[in-house]
Amino acid sequence: MTIAQDSPARSETSAAACSVTFSVNGRTSSLVLDPRVTLLDVLREHLHLTGTKKGCDQGQCGACTVMVNGRRINSCLTLALMHEGDEITTIEGLGSPEALHPLQKAFLDHDGFQCGYCTPGQIISAVAVLEEIGAGVPSHVTADLNGAPPATDEEIRERMSGNLCRCSAYPNIIAAIRDMVEDHV
Ligand code: FES
Ligand code: FES
Repeated sequence: MTIAQDSPARSETSAAACSVTFSVNGRTSSLVLDPRVTLLDVLREHLHLTGTKKGCDQGQCGACTVMVNGRRINSCLTLALMHEGDEITTIEGLGSPEALHPLQKAFLDHDGFQCGYCTPGQIISAVAVLEEIGAGVPSHVTADLNGAPPATDEEIRERMSGNLCRCSAYPNIIAAIRDMVEDHV
C-alpha cells in the first residue's frame, strides 16, 4: 500500500505537542513531544542515549529493552507520554567504562556478544531476570508455582527468550548470566 506524502497520519505537524517529565538514569528530563513518539525514539533521538538499540521497532527483538520503575519493557512499544513521573534506566545508567556493572563485566569475561547490537538489551533484560528469579516470580517453565523458581539454564533461556541475538551468541550469554546467579539469586 502506498501512503500519500501528505497523509495526515504521517504528518509531523498534525499532532499537538504535549509535555512530559520523567527521570532517565537519575536525571530528570522535561520534554515537549509529538504525542506519537515512542520512548525508544525519545531516548535515542532527543536525549542522545544511543546505547538502547532499535532492531525491529515492533516488539520482536528486545534490542530496545529498558527498565521502567524497575521492570523491563520494550521501549519501542510504548509512547513516551505514557511515562510521566516514571524512573527509566537504560544501559548507560547501569555502569560506565570505568565502573562496569557486574553483568557487563560478566558479558566481557564470557564473550557474550559478537557485533554487540543486541547486547545493551540483553544486559538490561538479564538484570531484570535475576531480580525476577530472586523475587520468586514464576515463568512459563517454572514447574512448582508454590516454591522459589530455580535459577536453571532452562529458566534463564525462557526468561531471555524475548531478546534475540542475530550473531547467535546465546551459549556465552547464558554463561555470563549463570555466572551472576549465585551472587544475586
Ligand atoms: S526494537 Fe523494540 S523489540 Fe525490537
Ligand atoms: S551480538 Fe550481534 S546481534 Fe547479538
